[in-house]
Amino acid sequence: MAANSRAALVTGANKGIGLEIVRQLSPKFQGTVYLTARDVGRGQEAEKKLQGDGLKNVKFLQMDVNDKKSIEKARDFIKEKHGGLDVLINNAGILKFVPATGPGLPAIDRSFEAVKDTIATNVTGVLDVCNAFFPILRDHARIVNVSSELGSLAYLKNEEVKKLLTKGDLTVKEVEQAAADYIKISEKGNAGIDLGYPEQFGPYGMSKILLNAVSRVQQRDLDQDKTRTDLVVNSCTPGYVATDLNNNSGHRTVQQGADTPVYLATLPPSSGGKPVEPRGEYVDERKVVNWLAGDGWVQM
Ligand SMILES: NC(=O)c1ccc[n+]([C@@H]2O[C@H](COP(=O)([O-])OP(=O)(O)OC[C@H]3O[C@@H](n4cnc5c(N)ncnc54)[C@H](OP(=O)(O)O)[C@@H]3O)[C@@H](O)[C@H]2O)c1
Repeated sequence: MAANSRAALVTGANKGIGLEIVRQLSPKFQGTVYLTARDVGRGQEAEKKLQGDGLKNVKFLQMDVNDKKSIEKARDFIKEKHGGLDVLINNAGILKFVPATGPGLPAIDRSFEAVKDTIATNVTGVLDVCNAFFPILRDHARIVNVSSELGSLAYLKNEEVKKLLTKGDLTVKEVEQAAADYIKISEKGNAGIDLGYPEQFGPYGMSKILLNAVSRVQQRDLDQDKTRTDLVVNSCTPGYVATDLNNNSGHRTVQQGADTPVYLATLPPSSGGKPVEPRGEYVDERKVVNWLAGDGWVQM
């Protein structure tokens, strides 16, 4: 394989929306699409399934977004094999419920453990992957952070935190600090609801709010790096999709859910001095949502 051959990578891709993202991206991408998964067995099985369907450019690579060593190992492998990365889709995510006691969706787990785990995977995990892979992104790379409509600012009633997360000069460090503060506050239990942190889907919603906030910062930071050309970051929602994440209660299919992430991952190179759009936005069904204004929320 040529050291400069193209590569795309999707996290948490052994099932659900991530698997379907790989399926849809594969025929559209001229290069290797890395289906990453934390579990080797589940990852290899998914690879086999897609290769069996004729998607020969799909390859499995082990990566647990909670394990920095595995992230760095995957990064080193891509660097060695391909010389850089062209598409990064941060899809891996968790939503924690308390154990089910009857039919329907169980209650959201708002325990301290659930807050820690959710932030670790949905926020810190994404940032660790970005820290490892951003330095090897090639010009015209596309980055997609798979978020949620539950990451709308409409769910955050704490005005101080809202002001912080929407300010124009927000930094990645400040988002990390906001995540750490949220964990600290959650030590008392109830995931900070009394302080205006999200009530519906609690820790999950807060993790996606932080992810939407940091995606905007990432775009600004990459734009300021004049050694790099045409790197585009967007966050998006797949919509409410029937997967294991929600006990298959969603009303959309994985095919519908994967459409916007794949659309954003395959945005064409900017040309004629005009940057491609959307960039640094939050996107739902291929349309930009005014996240700063608190749009994009859903009636529950
Ligand atoms: N489904 C929806 O309605 C919906 C709505 C809005 C946003 N989303 C977002 O869409 C993304 C995909 O969700 P989904 O619905 O497809 O959920 P899913 O079916 O539960 O799949 C989640 C994937 O993430 C992986 N994962 C979890 N923790 C990981 C870790 N530490 N390292 C690597 N992979 C890890 C899982 O691997 P294992 O199989 O090993 O657990 C699985 O492959 C998530 O970010 C989710 O928040 C989903």
